[in-house]
Amino acid sequence: MRAGPLQEEREMASTTRLRLLSITAAAIVLGAVGTPAARAQLNQSRCADCHFANPYTEPAQNHLHEWSMSPHRRGGVGCDRCHGGNPGTFESLQAHRGVLGSQNPSSPVHRTRLPSTCGACHIGPYVNFQASRHHELLIQGDRRVPTCSTCHGSVNGRLLSPEGLERQCSECHGPGGIEPRPGRAADARLLLEGIGEVRESLDAARHLIDRVRDGDRRDGLEEAYLQTEVPLIEARRAGHRFVFDQLQERLATARERVAALLTELVNPSR
Ligand code: HEC
Ligand code: HEC
Ligand code: HEC
Ligand code: HEC
Ligand code: HEC
Repeated sequence: MRAGPLQEEREMASTTRLRLLSITAAAIVLGAVGTPAARAQLNQSRCADCHFANPYTEPAQNHLHEWSMSPHRRGGVGCDRCHGGNPGTFESLQAHRGVLGSQNPSSPVHRTRLPSTCGACHIGPYVNFQASRHHELLIQGDRRVPTCSTCHGSVNGRLLSPEGLERQCSECHGPGGIEPRPGRAADARLLLEGIGEVRESLDAARHLIDRVRDGDRRDGLEEAYLQTEVPLIEARRAGHRFVFDQLQERLATARERVAALLTELVNPSR
């Protein structure tokens, strides 16, 4: 099954388990998920091993497949990180201690608790989501509002296209939806398109910067690149407020900076 470096990680994990646990704890505190330590810990997970051996029902079978194809598996995020339980044992009773079905309001994967469960790792989206009317109503138990999995899926970390996002908003805010709000869905699509455009320009700048030979000039350009990427990342996160003033401001800043960066690349000022 697993071979090479992964096998080595697993062996290292069993011989120096204590040390690894403390490294992993430090990685969690720092929010450094997806590190080699996190992936080594995933190798210790009995949850996935047993569930793959007993793919007992639909839709859990799809869920396993989605997990195996997801950025979560690649990033070392095992089942227990969303569901709880003890990933270090094959003994079913012990393994499932604290694991509750998603319909149970105390479960970490119940819709009202997903923001804090997912948000433990995705702090930027979570902080912004908490500022939204959606969140306010969600934690009161309102079934009409979206939660993280509405747009991203339960485990696959899917990212919606601009059109997909427009459709998602429209399900509730379109004509005939439960809360018709003309324009909201179209705004969301336009802004996500804007984020995509700036990302493309920034990728183009990346290729040009990589071809610059002069070290000093390149350092300056790298700095300008970072100064452009930061507001773009912030814009994406700010979208989780669903009131888009902050997103618009961050996106406008990123757009100005990428234009200046491309001008400087094509037409050096010195
Ligand atoms: C020894 C095999 C085995 C291990 C280890 C195991 N599971 Fe399970 N799990 C099952 C089986 C079989 C079921 C379905 C029957 C049942 O509910 O007991 C199940 C059910 C579940 C359910 C559905 C619960 C519900 O109420 O609908 C979840 C969620 C789950 N497991 C998560 C986990 C997590 C997380 C871990 C690791 C911490 C884990 N499992 C470890 C075999 C296992
Ligand atoms: C990123 C978070 C996340 C990870 C990682 C994850 N799950 Fe889930 N899982 C969920 C959510 C959320 C649901 C709720 C159902 C839904 O929204 O479709 C769920 C539902 C389930 C169910 C159906 C029973 C229920 O409680 O609804 C089972 C069984 C299950 N997961 C097992 C697993 C196993 C086994 C793994 C690892 C291979 C895993 N999950 C990894 C988030 C996750
Ligand atoms: C234990 C930490 C952890 C938890 C809990 C977690 N994630 Fe993730 N998530 C990650 C890692 C690691 C990645 C892969 C690296 C990355 O892209 O940031 C990832 C990737 C993603 C992505 C893709 C990001 C991108 O830029 O492509 C989305 C979307 C996502 N997760 C949503 C969720 C949702 C929704 C939940 C809850 C149901 C959740 N995550 C729970 C750690 C976590
Ligand atoms: C109504 C839809 C919607 C909901 C609800 C939603 N998101 Fe997002 N999320 C998006 C969109 C749109 C993007 C930007 C996608 C892109 O840039 O391609 C995004 C991006 C992300 C990303 C990748 C960017 C980043 O900053 O890392 C993560 C992770 C993420 N969301 C997590 C969450 C979490 C956690 C929740 C719940 C607290 C949540 N999302 C709720 C639509 C949603
Ligand atoms: C699952 C249904 C659902 C989805 C999907 C959804 N919303 Fe909402 N939204 C609601 C509900 C319900 C309210 C609560 C209205 C109220 O009572 O205040 C709300 C409130 C809002 C509000 C605050 C109230 C207002 O109109 O000023 C904004 C803004 C908003 N949604 C924008 C969006 C955007 C943009 C999207 C897509 C990215 C989206 N919503 C997706 C159900 C949804």
